[in-house]
Amino acid sequence: MTRSSEPTGHGTGSAAGTDSPGATNGTDGTDSISCEGVGVTLSGSSGALDVLGGVDISVARGEFVSILGTSGSGKTTLLRVLGGLLPATTGTVRCHGSVVTGPADGVVTVFQDYVHSLLPWRTVRRNVGLGIEAGCDRAERDERVDEALIMVGLRQRADEYPWRLSGGMQQRVQIARALATRPRVLLMDEPFGALDAMTKASLQDQLQQVQELTATTVVFVTHDVEEAVYLSDRVLVLDGSPAAIGLALDIPLERPRHQVTTKESADYLRLRHRVYEALGHDIGERARLGEHDHA
Ligand SMILES: Nc1ncnc2c1ncn2[C@@H]1O[C@H](COP(=O)(O)OP(=O)(O)O)[C@@H](O)[C@H]1O
Ligand SMILES: [Mg+2]
Repeated sequence: MTRSSEPTGHGTGSAAGTDSPGATNGTDGTDSISCEGVGVTLSGSSGALDVLGGVDISVARGEFVSILGTSGSGKTTLLRVLGGLLPATTGTVRCHGSVVTGPADGVVTVFQDYVHSLLPWRTVRRNVGLGIEAGCDRAERDERVDEALIMVGLRQRADEYPWRLSGGMQQRVQIARALATRPRVLLMDEPFGALDAMTKASLQDQLQQVQELTATTVVFVTHDVEEAVYLSDRVLVLDGSPAAIGLALDIPLERPRHQVTTKESADYLRLRHRVYEALGHDIGERARLGEHDHA
């Protein structure tokens, strides 16, 4: 599957920074997952906490959208609402046209914490087959597990136990488990956040390839600006308290992307700069003061 480098311009409702509506990428232009007017109030130790307010998002089929925000801005809360794992206090979530009232068919979440997501007493193969045991016979399950393991490059490690594998490989097992269900929507919550820089880059590229191959819709939560710009068709920045979408930025960089050449391109640097600005960073000032980024 190839995708053009045109902006997606898919609707984001209240987003302040949306560029160029109209064109679509390799998607069919219809919504895969969306939410309208979503607000979430949680009860914290010092009373009610309005985490999200008036969040409008629509993600097209086959689109790769990142949700970026500082720590505590409500990214995980939003992903849980989209996945039907947490009810919204106000507003509506839809998946392929149906209102979401619980975990929807074809929607799978991948978490950052691969260690606790895998069952140590099961081999890699049996971990990957976990999500399809009820719905598939043995032959189909084996076929799907093999297919998913090949996609993440772990076919040769199928009979090992996950604790014998590196952190990056364990996360690939969790991703393969999600892929074996042949999801229509993959929700990912900082899936590479615990990995070292080299492993992270390699998994980003593998995810990019898998998504090109399967045309799965991906909603990817991260606090890493470079990762969001590198991977996405569109970056949404959560902002404010309660948080809403403060910036929606199309990322019309050519695909496939490359860790070195894409990141050296003027377009990539310009887009990255815009996202940093939306997160409230005065990059030059920070550098002079020797402060760190907290994106
Ligand atoms: N179950 C919960 N009960 C009460 N407050 C919560 C709960 N989960 C998260 N929060 C609070 O909601 C806010 C957003 O959290 P979260 O969505 O995890 O942010 P992020 O993923 O962007 O770091 C934080 O202030 C957090 O403390
Ligand atoms: Mg989080």
